[in-house]
Amino acid sequence: MHDPAALRSLHLARFQAVPAIFVAPGRVNLIGEHTDYAEGFVMPVAIDFATLAGISPRTDGKIVVYSENYGEEKTFEAAAPPTQAGKHWSDYPLGVVAILAGEGYKIPGFSLSLWGDVPLGSGLSSSAALEVVTMLAVTSLIGVAIPGPVLARLCQRVENEFVGANCGIMDQFISANGKENHALLLDCRDLSFKLAPIPAHIALVIANTMVKHSIAGGDYPTRRRESEAACAVIDSHRGGVPFLRDATLDDLEKWGHEMEPKSLLRARHVISEDLRTVAAEKALEKGDLAEVGRLMAEAHRSYSKDFEGSCVEADLMVELAQDLPGLIGARLTGGGFGGCTINLVEQSQAKAFAAELGKRYAAKTGIEPQIHICHASGGAHRLE
Ligand code: GLA
Repeated sequence: MHDPAALRSLHLARFQAVPAIFVAPGRVNLIGEHTDYAEGFVMPVAIDFATLAGISPRTDGKIVVYSENYGEEKTFEAAAPPTQAGKHWSDYPLGVVAILAGEGYKIPGFSLSLWGDVPLGSGLSSSAALEVVTMLAVTSLIGVAIPGPVLARLCQRVENEFVGANCGIMDQFISANGKENHALLLDCRDLSFKLAPIPAHIALVIANTMVKHSIAGGDYPTRRRESEAACAVIDSHRGGVPFLRDATLDDLEKWGHEMEPKSLLRARHVISEDLRTVAAEKALEKGDLAEVGRLMAEAHRSYSKDFEGSCVEADLMVELAQDLPGLIGARLTGGGFGGCTINLVEQSQAKAFAAELGKRYAAKTGIEPQIHICHASGGAHRLE
């Protein structure tokens, strides 16, 4: 139901008020993994899985949020909303309220209905879509227009400061600022970006391993710490290296022996991934798809071996795609340790590719994967 009319009816029936309706997409990252918090480069695409929000004002001073996905409603006092997360879906809308209140905005009572089809915990940024759509809905309600990049930063703060997930800016940025038929090469240092057109003959085939991933869990912050420890060693020698974005592979040659072996490997992934991401955008621009595929393969190897961010199932999903007709490139996408692979595939072969990949994966694992052929969509906006 990417259907604003259905959400409007649902909201009207529940809250007896006509809502304004907003949408924010999930995303898939083509290349550039665990580089965003190192102020490096990423190249994500907004996809046609999304979260919709309907919002209307209330006069009783309450904030009432309803999730159609969970079939659950929660009520809070607008004047004194919870200031701590409760490991519940309502943390995301509440986090938006908390961050906006911290910025000095007075938040009135409102009713919010939510519905989404971004697969949860699959590395397709269901939580970013929820934050961005809520941020857009609430700021519109209070009559404040916030530019997309600023809105993305506020939503990242919802994760970092309220939910307690130490993520970078990529997911919120692309959900707020995606452009139809394009990937964005985003510089996570200054949030400048370059639009990279996705040729019409290329399909985005997203293959869900069905292994759940969570960035609030232990592995994501551990990898982040390990890579940052390597950065600190380099910075202690030559200064001016606050982030791995500023480091080079030469630095690792020189000072790698002073690092924990794991830190060295994590940093080698991050530094080389930045180079690959910038190169992949150039190759896409030139129409050199063989090079894009080669870079994706290298990125997956680096993510799996050096960063140890993959899992058996994701490695298998990538491997099973290799000899399928139409494949340009395949790799694990998103925060890692499960979730989805992204396969760039010739459009004419995409359906057969998806069917065969699903069959092969099910035969090997006994797990029925979900395989989606997605389209590069626009960023968050008001509907109608
Ligand atoms: C998650 C985080 C992002 C990014 C990726 C890994 O999606 O939310 O900020 O770090 O993992 O590239």
